[in-house]
Amino acid sequence: MKFKPADAIQDLQFFGEFGGVNPSISDTSTYTFMSAKTMLDTFEGNTEGCYLYSRHSTPSNGYLGEALADMEGTESANVSASGMGAITPVLLQLVGSGEHIVSSRTIYGGTYAFLKNFTPRLGIATTFVDITKVDIVEAAITKNTKVLFCETVSNPLLEVADIRALSALAKKYNIKLVVDNTFSPLSISPAKLGADVVCHSLTKFINGTSDAVGGVACGAQEFIDDLRNVNNGASMLLGSTMDSLRASSILKNMRTLPIRMKQHSYNASFLAHKFEADGLKTVYPGLESHPSHQLFTSMMNTAYGFGGMLTIDVGSLEKANALMKLMQERNIGYLAVSLGFYKTLFSAPGTSTSSEISEEEQKEMGLTNGLIRFSIGLDNDIERTYKMMKSCMIKLGVL
Ligand SMILES: Cc1ncc(COP(=O)(O)O)c(C=O)c1O
Repeated sequence: MKFKPADAIQDLQFFGEFGGVNPSISDTSTYTFMSAKTMLDTFEGNTEGCYLYSRHSTPSNGYLGEALADMEGTESANVSASGMGAITPVLLQLVGSGEHIVSSRTIYGGTYAFLKNFTPRLGIATTFVDITKVDIVEAAITKNTKVLFCETVSNPLLEVADIRALSALAKKYNIKLVVDNTFSPLSISPAKLGADVVCHSLTKFINGTSDAVGGVACGAQEFIDDLRNVNNGASMLLGSTMDSLRASSILKNMRTLPIRMKQHSYNASFLAHKFEADGLKTVYPGLESHPSHQLFTSMMNTAYGFGGMLTIDVGSLEKANALMKLMQERNIGYLAVSLGFYKTLFSAPGTSTSSEISEEEQKEMGLTNGLIRFSIGLDNDIERTYKMMKSCMIKLGVL
């Protein structure tokens, strides 16, 4: 049967304490016990539905986690204070000193910096590969490899990972496939294609209002329990816990994610086709010219389209900066990092979100100075937006 992630969101039913249509917020850091015996059982992880201390778990975080697990089709999920607060404990839970990670080389700059600069201090080595070449990925796997890491749609180059093929590799070598699905919520469901753990930065499309930072790791119940283990769980011990008030606000926003993703995708697809027809070097997985267009199509939940992210290359950093400045002045969107807002956001990744990656490496992976990354907003009249953008491009000689 076809997986329908929006139905999972539609069917959420959490009553508030007094019958509220939104669940009550657990505005507390600690919890009382009716007897000392239950306290011991809870510490030992034996008591279902009992809460101990809010760094471990809270009812509000539980509701949001359940919603996200349902959306990704996993048994369970653990929410965290940021996307990095989800990704880093997942990796540290799965990989230890002397062990190895194979990672896509085109990933979010923060994750790249974590793997390149931070984890070597803990004796964890990472080999970065072109994730679109499965034979190269396989060749990088060693006897010490524990994790294969990638983004479904990569930041910022919008390369698409073949989750089915990578999952087959992971199973062959008995390693875990960890996928960051931040760029393609609903459009692609990596766990349904064989990923073991699916992470998100909730900061982006899922929250959608650019007012919160959050993250999640979705996976098997046993793994999520491991992350929260009071003795050796990386999430529990590193402590990047989401606040309950924030979990409650993100859950409310998440209910409109299906309609938002459809509109982001519709608008991005409209602009990508127009920009390409205008002769701009445009990258969008929904374009037939995208090298992984067929692959994306073979993995997608069609109703949500190809996502809200696209890039254009305007030739130089100077032109990119001038165009972004003008588009902001004309109120087309904001010159800002991040993504998934109602308004279009644009940035030059080479000097912002991917600045952790050295110039030489950027060149090698095709990250050029003139690249502008767009997170296309929810504009009601995208044709009007296109005309405004085009007039900026003509004024600056980009077109
Ligand atoms: C693909 C991707 N993964 C992870 C992150 C990190 O998330 P956060 O900023 O919520 O820690 C980001 C963005 O910042 C991202 O774009």
